[in-house]
Parts: sequence; structure tokens; C-alpha cells
Amino acid sequence: MTERYEGADATIFHGDCLEALNSIPDASVDLIFADPPYNIGKKFSEFKDSWPSDLAYAEWCYQWLAVCISKLKLTGSLYVMTSTQAMPYLDLWLRKRINILSRIVWHYDSSGVQAKKYFGSLYEPILHCVKDAKNYTFNAADIEVEARTGAVRKLIDYRKEVPAPYKTTKVPGNIWYLPRVRYRMSEYEEHPSQKPESLLERIIKASSNSSDLVLDPFSGTFTTCAVAQRLGRRSIGIELQAEYVKIGLRRLGIATHFNGESLQALDKTYIRKNGNGIKGGVIAKKEQGRLFDANI
Ligand SMILES: C[S@@+](CC[C@H](N)C(=O)[O-])C[C@H]1O[C@@H](n2cnc3c(N)ncnc32)[C@H](O)[C@@H]1O
Repeated sequence: MTERYEGADATIFHGDCLEALNSIPDASVDLIFADPPYNIGKKFSEFKDSWPSDLAYAEWCYQWLAVCISKLKLTGSLYVMTSTQAMPYLDLWLRKRINILSRIVWHYDSSGVQAKKYFGSLYEPILHCVKDAKNYTFNAADIEVEARTGAVRKLIDYRKEVPAPYKTTKVPGNIWYLPRVRYRMSEYEEHPSQKPESLLERIIKASSNSSDLVLDPFSGTFTTCAVAQRLGRRSIGIELQAEYVKIGLRRLGIATHFNGESLQALDKTYIRKNGNGIKGGVIAKKEQGRLFDANI
């Protein structure tokens, strides 16, 4: 059974996405960000991310994707993530039902062990789809990044009647270099697949306007809803696992307790092994900013 928690600007559904999606009126959502389990055997609290076959996984995805499309307004946008190996199934299915505008690569560096006998995977694919290719929200000016030409001096456009420097900003291309969430970043929560706020910030700014409704059917740590809240959007987040719903309730300021348990942020202070005293474990905001300045 699905439980519902209401905040001023965000609603959390604790339950299965297919059941919870039924409570949302058709054609009512401006933007959907769907980051489902990838069928790669991860453990999401009590949930094991594993289907009997690639096709069985794809067929499960087709079910919730069809419902998501029906919840989108005519001007709405859908972003879908999955593993590199599963994305072709979703791409082929989606292109018959919605307009795929971009195939985005979220590229990051690996902090773990590097592959030695093959080319290790350092990206995850994202499809950017819209219902109506002639009428959709895209706030280009809100997401521009520095246009890197490689030149030291400003390049001049001599084709203009009065030669002028080229524009120094641009809409990002479809390869996004954004670091993964690391333990010492202040946004870190305990979840095996938390997406960075920087990724959601770009998507939400580009594809929704102030007060629009953003839906995330697989909320995990509720990154989408948290960023939507910060940017003045309304949001609905759905999550199956109580452990993660607790993160959402706290992160979105909806509740301070869950079944009598006080909801506390993760304590990341630690004591240095060399005994040199107690040190806060979170990277300063200023330093974090530098992690996010690389855009391709
Ligand atoms: C890849 S994670 C999402 C991570 C999220 N984007 C974030 O930034 O934290 C997928 C989430 O889907 C949840 N999940 C799995 N099956 C589900 C279902 N049927 N309905 C709703 N949520 C589900 C998992 O518990 C997991 O937290």
C-alpha cells in the first residue's frame, strides 16, 4: 500500500511507482526525471536490482514509461536514465512514442579501481524526450556554460559587419562532465546510486519554469525534489524503500520523525587516526564549487 506525505511544495509517495503513479492526474506534470534501478545487481536497502533477463527488465520499464508519458502535459519533458547496456531497449521503444531530442552522456571520473583488461565505463546515458517537438520548455539562457575555444585571446568574428568577439557562453553539448557524489560532499546521503545536484540542476532549470510540477518516480535520496524545491518548483517523489523515504522527509523538510524515529542527517565528523583531534568531514562549499566548473 502506498503512503503519502505532503509538504508545502513537495509530495512523497512511499510505495511502488506503478501504484503511486495512479494517484497523479493525467497530463498534469511538466517534467519527469526517471532514474530507475539499472538491472545490474545493486542492493537498494531491501530491494535487489536484478531481473531474470534484459528483456524482462525492459518490459518492466515499458510499463512505467507508458504511464509516465500519460502523466506529462503536452508541453512536458521526460529525462530517462538506465545502464549503457539497457538503454538501446528503451531508446527503440521510446522513439515510437515520444520525441527523443538528445542522447546525453553523463561523464565522470572513477574514484574506484580502474579496469585493466578493457575500457572501463565512465559514463551513464540519459535520454531527453519531449511530447511535442514544436512546443516544449527549454530555458537555454539559464544553463549556459563557458564556451571553450582553446584560444588564449578572444576570437573575433570577422563575418559580422562590425567585427565583434564571439559569444563566450553556450548551451552545453550532450556530454556533461559532472563529478559523482562523494562521501565528503555536503549533499552526500547513504544510497548506492545518488545522483549529483549539479546534474538535476541543469535538467530542472532547462526543462521547467518556476512553480512547475516535477516528478521523480524513483526518488532514492530525493535529489530531484530537493533541487526542485531550491529552484522554486513543486515536486512529487516516489520511492519504494523506507530507508530512503526517511531521507526525503528530512531533506525536503516534510517531517522530523518517521514512526517515532528522529530523522537526523548523516554524522560525517570523524576522528583522525593520528590523534590530531576531531575534524569536520565535509568539503567546504567553496571547494565543492570548484568540482563543478568543468563543462564540455
Ligand atoms: C537509481 S536509484 C535513484 C537514485 C536517485 N536518482 C538519487 O539521486 O538518489 C533507484 C531507486 O528506485 C527505487 N525503486 C526500486 N524499485 C522501485 C519501484 N518499483 N517503485 C519505486 N521506487 C523503486 C530504489 O529503492 C532506488 O532508491
